[in-house]
Amino acid sequence: MKKILSGIQPSGRPSLGNYLGAIKPQVSLQDEADVTYFIADLHAITVRQDPAELKKRTYAVAAWYLACGLDPEKSTLFVQSHVPAHAQLGWILNTFAQMGELERMTQFKDKSKRHSHNINVGLFGYPVLQAADILLYNIDAVPVGEDQKQHIELTRDIAIRFNNHYTQGKEGAKPIFVVPEPMLPKTGARVKDLQNPTAKMSKSIDGKGTIFMEEDVKSIAKKIRSAVTDSGSTVEYDVANKPGIANLLEIYATVQNISIEAAQNEFSGQQYGAFKSTVADAVVAEIEPIQKRFNELMNHRAELDKILKVGAEKANIQAERTLQKVMRKVGLVPPAV
Ligand code: TYM
Repeated sequence: MKKILSGIQPSGRPSLGNYLGAIKPQVSLQDEADVTYFIADLHAITVRQDPAELKKRTYAVAAWYLACGLDPEKSTLFVQSHVPAHAQLGWILNTFAQMGELERMTQFKDKSKRHSHNINVGLFGYPVLQAADILLYNIDAVPVGEDQKQHIELTRDIAIRFNNHYTQGKEGAKPIFVVPEPMLPKTGARVKDLQNPTAKMSKSIDGKGTIFMEEDVKSIAKKIRSAVTDSGSTVEYDVANKPGIANLLEIYATVQNISIEAAQNEFSGQQYGAFKSTVADAVVAEIEPIQKRFNELMNHRAELDKILKVGAEKANIQAERTLQKVMRKVGLVPPAV
């Protein structure tokens, strides 16, 4: 069975982009693969967080996965900071990552602009911790939205560099790390801001252009109905010339599990207003029942704690195994037992 892993930061409320680009396709993989998902709390603290809010948001990400149908019996769900090997391997991998390649990371450049008063070392080294998250678990594929592709490519580079360093010239030496592939959903990999459809919909931008999964459904519908559209009147998928319409078609296709082409055919000859209303209804119909389950789960923290405890125990076993292997390769003396 293919091994799959991904993570979401518990910073801010998840957006429709997080749901369509990540949670929905990730949950759908649980029947065909060995899946592990985790809440990247150590990544979230690279930007200042309110402690009480961070704690609540950590439970909330877990509740979203479960509300969207993740089955904790089939899959593994845990909190990153509950598995110490992530930070430990992250440190070792820091010595295999170059300043120049981290400086080129788009997310680092964006966040340094937005948080110019706090460009901390953690923010800079963020992708190295992400590499550790993945490489601990012998992962084949990492389902993410398009914005994370660059980080997965860096993970591959670090894995290959490490493998080569410890196998070169040593006959029969086996590579330590499995080199993972990024896995992008066919639709919804880059949901755009409804008011600015050339920029990504981001959970850290609170405005009319972002839909939050926890938002009142009336407000969700209103935001979609007032999404920026383009000149012209035909509903067609043309990202360069009609980014607003293309974004709504993409959202609709992902919600309905159909191709963009099928979505486009459905709306041929329709006016923009009617099109936007249908998209709004479809999004609300999808999100409303999930919100109900989410709210129930958030009232059962002890249940969430139990699921996360079992998840961390499962993850710890595999993570420790890889960490010990890496330590031996590097020449660190293992603790005596
Ligand atoms: P994060 O928390 O920013 O986003 C979580 C997931 O949502 C996807 N996503 C989107 N997809 C489509 N359209 C959008 N507008 C959109 N916005 C966000 C992201 O691509 C992501 O899949 N660094 C990661 C968290 C992480 C991780 C990992 C992921 C930490 N360690 C290891 C994979 C493997 C992040 O900040 O995601």
